[in-house]
Amino acid sequence: MPSIIFFHPDGRRQQIEASEGESAMQAATRHDISGILAECGGNAMCATCHVYVDEAWLARLPAMGGDEDALLDGAAAERQANSRLSCQIRLAADLDGLVLSLPDRQT
Ligand code: FES
Repeated sequence: MPSIIFFHPDGRRQQIEASEGESAMQAATRHDISGILAECGGNAMCATCHVYVDEAWLARLPAMGGDEDALLDGAAAERQANSRLSCQIRLAADLDGLVLSLPDRQT
């Protein structure tokens, strides 16, 4: 069962247990992680599930799709080189310990 570590903008750390096959967004909302709004329900249409991926994990994620790339340009918080949409990060055993930071706003 992969775990995910979230860092909030105030430095608070929260670790949750996820299930293989669900997205990082689904795991976050299931555990009431504040800062992940996911207004479109994971359909890559809202960018309110924006996260910053820890550099050590970035290369281990699947490549970004065109829709995700375009949406991130319109994210409320500044887009950075390690920005991803958490609804597009599918969790598997090899992502156990994934570290994601939350932006200071989603809208
Ligand atoms: S939940 Fe809407 S883009 Fe991820």
